[in-house]
This record gives sequence, C-alpha cells and structure tokens, in this order.
Amino acid sequence: MPHPRWRVPLVGDVLGRTPRTPLQDSMRLARELGPVYERKLFRRRFVIVSDAEMAAELAEERRFGKHVLPGVAKLRDLAGDGLFTAYNEEPNWRKAHDILRPAFTQQAMRGYHPHMLAVARELLARWDARDRVEVTPDMTRLTLETIGRTGFGYSFDSFQRERPHPFVSAMFATLRHAQRNLLRPPLVGDLLFRKADRRYDVDRAYMASVVDEVIRARVASGDQRTDDLLGLMLNTAHADGSGPLDEVNIRNQVITFLVAGHETTSGALSFALYYLARNPEVLARAQAEVDAEWGAGGEPDPSFEQVAKLRYVRRVFDEALRLWPTAPAFARQAKVDTVLGGRLPLRAGEWVLLLIPMLHRDPVWGQDVERFDPDRFLPERVKARPAHVFKPWGTGERACIGRQFALHEAILVLGLLLHRYDFAADPDYALRVQELLTLKPEGFSLTLSARRPTG
Ligand code: HEM
Repeated sequence: MPHPRWRVPLVGDVLGRTPRTPLQDSMRLARELGPVYERKLFRRRFVIVSDAEMAAELAEERRFGKHVLPGVAKLRDLAGDGLFTAYNEEPNWRKAHDILRPAFTQQAMRGYHPHMLAVARELLARWDARDRVEVTPDMTRLTLETIGRTGFGYSFDSFQRERPHPFVSAMFATLRHAQRNLLRPPLVGDLLFRKADRRYDVDRAYMASVVDEVIRARVASGDQRTDDLLGLMLNTAHADGSGPLDEVNIRNQVITFLVAGHETTSGALSFALYYLARNPEVLARAQAEVDAEWGAGGEPDPSFEQVAKLRYVRRVFDEALRLWPTAPAFARQAKVDTVLGGRLPLRAGEWVLLLIPMLHRDPVWGQDVERFDPDRFLPERVKARPAHVFKPWGTGERACIGRQFALHEAILVLGLLLHRYDFAADPDYALRVQELLTLKPEGFSLTLSARRPTG
C-alpha cells in the first residue's frame, strides 16, 4: 500500500504536514501517491481512497455502512448519539431519523421558505450599507440565523450584532479542537493538551447552555407545534410505540442541527460566491437567469417554486461543491469480509476514508478538473458520467438529511444576491481554504455595486 516516504517510528506520517490543513495535506498526498494510500498518525491507520470505481462500491449498502471517523467521534462529547455522530447500531439513530424525516419534505421546505427569505433580506440590508463585505462570516450569520429560526423558532440576532454570536466562536473552537485532537500523542497527550482541553470543556458547556435555552424558550411558550425540528422532537411519538425522543437525545439533536445545519452551507455559499466573482462570464449568465426567472424589476419576491427554476445557479452551486465539498470526507466500514476494487481486502468492521475533493477530480471528470465549469452539471453530461462520482452529501441512509434544506436556502440567497449586486473579488486574493473539519474560504471579501436602483 503506498504511503508517505518519510515515516517516523511511533509517530507515523507527520513530517511536512500541518495541523491546520489535514485535508489539503491528504489531497497533496493523493496527487503524489494515487487514489488509494495509507497514512499513519500515532497508532491510527487511515486508508484513504478517491477512486471513482471504489466510491461506487462503497455506496453499496449491502457491503458497507457509515463509519464514524475519529475526528467526528470526538464530537460525540458534544452531540452524543445525535444523527451525525450516532453509531449505526444505536437505536436512537433510526428513531430520530424517522421522527425528523417530515421536517425535510418538500412540504416542510415550503413552510421554511418565508423564514429563509426574511433572513436573506436581513443579509441584503447589511450588504446594502457596505461597499465591501467579508463573505464567510456573513454567510455564517445567514445560515445560523436560518437554521435557528426555521428549525427551532429561535433567533440568534445574527444581523443585529457586530461580532459573531458567541455560539459561533465556541463552535469554531470545538471543531478546531476535534481536528487537532487527531494529533494528540499517546501518553504525553493529556499533558500537552491540558490547556486546550480546559478551554474545550468551557466551550462545550457554553454550547450546551445555548441549547438548553433554545429548548426552554419553546417549552415555556407552551407552543405545541409539530412543523419544525424542535416541535417534532418534543411533540411526536415514534410509530413503533416507543414514545418521543428522550430529553438527552433531543439536546444532542439540537446541537447537531445547530452545527451541521449551518457550517457547511455557509462554506458552500462562500465558495460559490468566490467562483462567481472570479468568472465574469459565469456571473453574467447567472445574473441573466435570475433576471429572466424573477423579473428584472427592483425588488424580487421569489415564491418557493421560483427558486427551483434557477437551474444555472444550481449548477454553479454544484460546481462549487465539486471543487470544495464543504464536508470533505466520510468513511465507510465493511459489513462483511470483502475486497474493495478487486485489490483492497477488508475484514468486516474495517473502514476506509473517502476523500471527496479528490474523487471530484477523478479522470472521469475530464482533463481540466481544476477549471470552474458549471456546465459539467448539464443533465446530459451528468447522465454520461458514472453514478457515485459526485458525493458532497455522503451516501446511503446516512447521507445528509438536510440536503434539500441547504439547496433551497443556498439557491434562494444566491438568486437574491445575483439579482441585486455586481461583485468583484480583490484581484490579489488567492484562495486560501480554512479547515475546521469543514472547509471555507479564508479572508475572502467582495466589493459590491448595486445593479439597479433599490428602494
Ligand atoms: C450528514 C454534507 C447541510 C444535517 C451529512 C453528510 C455529508 C453532509 C457529507 C454525511 C456524513 C457522513 O457520512 O459521515 C452537507 C453539506 C451541506 C449540508 C455539504 C451544505 C452544503 C446540512 C444541513 C443540515 C444538515 C442544512 C440540517 C438542516 C445533516 C445531518 C447529517 C448530515 C443531521 C447526519 C445524517 C445521518 O447520519 O442520519 N451532511 N450537509 N446538513 N447532515 Fe449535512
């Protein structure tokens, strides 16, 4: 099995690697070593794959299921058996999945649409007052506010604050800790990480207190609704007669949705805006589509149906997710003894990590994989590619439950921004991808100019 050249006894493959960018390190290694290789970090062994045929096999639910990666497992301190971090065999996974499913139907999205629109308009008001905007923090304001209000009827007042909500800072710190924890050496690790562990405990406790406040506010209001995530969890029993979710699990789900429900969408929107600003022809086509579908007048008021009409904008978003899938890896473990891709024997329980950004650069995507080309997602071109080569949402029954939510939110916001502004990126800015288990552009700002008078 190929592995990095300079392997240090006991420590493993750490030379030349940076703790801040483990994912981009893995991408570099895939370019060097190929689509199947091994990395060792202390006692942990990672088999990293990005081959299109293997990805298709890994999607076979009969042979493979989700594996909770070590970095994600650390988040169980925070989210326990919440949907994202649950082990397959934990009964609360199925129970919560079934109870929460109705919150992600098309009918549910229709109900969220006015709230999403209201939050997006707060972003527009903020941007109208500025010529230059820091994109990623503002996308985080938007997505946190959206999941807070639609999922839990709770506002973080994201647009009323100059600094990010403390929940966001605590969340970044815990994600950073979970990522760095992968480099915790055995024996001396607890000593080396003592200060960071203490800070982590404080951040976790703070996040838990926010979750308690979100739940308390709903319970205190006496509101018995079942048309959002929190209402479903508090007021719906499972069809199998086992009653509603227990209190601890509800807390785990609230924190899961507050984190999983905004961080990845924020990064994906930021990348999409980056590529729009860098590709004037794409920007012009996207603007023309929005004008045609939503009307060229001053203030569009898109209906739920009009969002899905923006097919080109959707292709822009998909292409941004191809290059930088913001949840950039997931892992699959063998359910039975099997051989992956005819060459990698795996015993039941053994797992591999799928490196999504490199799968998205597999030769099946053509010769020019680094080029931003939304037309790769034209229906006829999608059909011409093998299945399972585009995996930003994961795979199988543990794939992203929030996919339609993220897509509706993202296309709506992009539509509104494209309709209203011309944007230009700083010509000196070179894309820097920040990693906190998820990905986002770092230090990326846009200069805005209004496309038409507003009022
Ligand atoms: C799972 C990506 C938005 C909630 C996943 C997984 C991926 C993913 C790759 C599978 C992880 C694995 O197999 O280990 C994304 C991306 C998003 C996004 C790229 C935005 C662009 C959202 C939103 C929500 C959400 C908006 C909630 C409103 C979840 C949950 C899971 C999940 C709860 C765990 C599902 C389960 O195992 O049952 N997501 N996600 N995600 N996502 Fe998302």
